[in-house]
Amino acid sequence: MNVALELNGRSVGLECEPDEMLLAVLRREGLRSVRATCGIGVCGACTVLVDGEPVSGCLMLAALSAGRRVTTVEGLSSADPVPRAFVEAHAYQCGWCTPGFILTAKALLADNPDPSEAEIGEALGGNLCRCGSYVEIVAAIRRAAAELAGGALRQ
Ligand code: FES
Ligand code: FES
Repeated sequence: MNVALELNGRSVGLECEPDEMLLAVLRREGLRSVRATCGIGVCGACTVLVDGEPVSGCLMLAALSAGRRVTTVEGLSSADPVPRAFVEAHAYQCGWCTPGFILTAKALLADNPDPSEAEIGEALGGNLCRCGSYVEIVAAIRRAAAELAGGALRQ
């Protein structure tokens, strides 16, 4: 079957089987930031944004993305303050989990531009980092929030 959707800002048609998960289809498209890891919705490494909300690509049938807006880290602008904050705060070690955390952070900051540490922790509940970079990840999100707030004030 062919599924029409908006993928990283472009209208595309993705060939997939009716029982295929979005994770597998996106990786076949070359979007390797979407990590195939636990495959059962536990780790968050396959997180993508679907209409702005974080979704585990390993749990969503690709067919259900028809007509939706799907975003992976490859679709973010090079000027996006969230990934930049992860670099500046050294919020990763191996980097395997990082795309999922960045997308979860983007969804959080879109809903709540000034999250408390507890709210950040709650939002990150579905993302695991086996390297244990949590302190730096929270710092990166606070840094991105501050930068976004500064940008809003400057406008
Ligand atoms: S690979 Fe999807 S949640 Fe772990
Ligand atoms: S940086 Fe290695 S799993 Fe998170």
